[in-house]
Amino acid sequence: MTREEKIEALEEIALEVRAFKGLEIARHATNAVPGEGDPDAEIMFIGEAPGFNEDKQGRPFVGQAGKLLEKSLQESLGMNRDDVYITNIVKYRPPDNRDPFPDEIEVCRDWLDRQIRVISPKIIATLGRFSMGKFIEGLTISRVHGQPRFVDFAGSRYIVYPMYHPAAALRAGSVLEQFRQDFNKLKALFTSASSPATAPDQSPSGPSQGSLF
Ligand code: URA
Repeated sequence: MTREEKIEALEEIALEVRAFKGLEIARHATNAVPGEGDPDAEIMFIGEAPGFNEDKQGRPFVGQAGKLLEKSLQESLGMNRDDVYITNIVKYRPPDNRDPFPDEIEVCRDWLDRQIRVISPKIIATLGRFSMGKFIEGLTISRVHGQPRFVDFAGSRYIVYPMYHPAAALRAGSVLEQFRQDFNKLKALFTSASSPATAPDQSPSGPSQGSLF
């Protein structure tokens, strides 16, 4: 897909997300939050669901958690938020920031799957357990954070990199330290993902969920 085709496809998804009223949280949203960033991004961050600030602005990760994400991106990778793509599992704010319900995740799944296919990133960095659970089942985030793995998804192979949610990092100093370390490892992963030895399309066909390093 050309960059222009990607922009068009992402805009079409965003229009659908904004027009949809089939969920209670969609009907109550001030703004839907489809996602934003570089359509050619090599790293895609997937969070959980919009919070208060995101709902107000219609943009992902613009509150305190977003500030930490932006700061970490800049410090560890020398990147701005415009250099990556940022979205969420659920595109509307759940009331009182409760966990998303399974039916809400299910309804939003097709939009996220299409965003992934259009952007086709090298690395999908999952933020928090709901996002991780889309790709990696039956494991806890405390066990697997910072450990990249190949995941075959919708006919393509991606490097999935599970990370703590930045909001969790803001709540506990020990998690913040892990979050920072994982961001530094993301830099190394990003560099090596571009080399032939670890590029997903060059790897031997193996199990659909293989550990990368
Ligand atoms: N937390 C999320 O998971 N996503 C956002 O967009 C903001 C906060």
